[in-house]
Amino acid sequence: MSDAAAASGTLPETQVRAMFDRIARVYDRMNSVMTAGMHHRWRRRAADLAHVGPGSRAVDVATGTGDLAIELRARGADVVGLDFSERMLELARAKAPAIEFVQGNALELAYPDASFDAVTVGFGARNFADLDRGLSELARVTRPGGRVVILEITTPQKPPLSWFFRFWFDHAVPALGRLAGDSDAYTYLPSSVRRFPGPRELAERLAATGLVDVRWVLTAGGIIAIHAGTQGPKHPARPGAQGTAS
Ligand SMILES: C[S@@+](CC[C@H](N)C(=O)[O-])C[C@H]1O[C@@H](n2cnc3c(N)ncnc32)[C@H](O)[C@@H]1O
Repeated sequence: MSDAAAASGTLPETQVRAMFDRIARVYDRMNSVMTAGMHHRWRRRAADLAHVGPGSRAVDVATGTGDLAIELRARGADVVGLDFSERMLELARAKAPAIEFVQGNALELAYPDASFDAVTVGFGARNFADLDRGLSELARVTRPGGRVVILEITTPQKPPLSWFFRFWFDHAVPALGRLAGDSDAYTYLPSSVRRFPGPRELAERLAATGLVDVRWVLTAGGIIAIHAGTQGPKHPARPGAQGTAS
């Protein structure tokens, strides 16, 4: 990966996959260091918004090392975790042998329409080479009345958190990445967050796929956005989306 490509936050799919294969070994530890362990709480909140329970069937897309799939499973759902990085999947399988982890591409899900009660993505949508295509695939495989949930880092707008965020992401995260042996990957991370749509725009793009009642919650002082919508009947999207902070 070139410095320029990493810094632009946009990488071709093959490079994104290679990057996650490369950092798989340090991925969980880096998450815990970068978020002071809070990432588990955010995934639990996202899993709650998926409204799954015993008898539900869910897919966690871009599952990585499987933590969000594990949260869905803890709620009793039958879960598939899907990712294109085989190295990340190996770690997921070792953590949760009871979950089916499969290699696949979020932009071309190999499932028929309306296959799942819930579809989740944690910190993955930002990496999709074609966001709208990824979002419409998530919606396509969700049954009418089912849920789509996206957990993602977002750029806080208000000081002092926006200052802290800039310092943390632009300086501390790449420095931690250098220590972990992959400065490119952890330079790409803040850039990919910066170029990702803000909460309102993401909600509108989700609604454009046909999801209804799209809402988002901002947490961790506005650094984390969790979007959730319900699959409606298959007709053009109803406009309108609302957010709340907590
Ligand atoms: C930042 S990690 C998130 C992993 C996990 N969901 C979590 O909550 O920690 C992003 C993951 O998305 C995967 N990914 C990115 N684009 C993908 C795509 N088009 N299809 C499948 N997986 C993808 C990467 O391989 C990587 O494992």
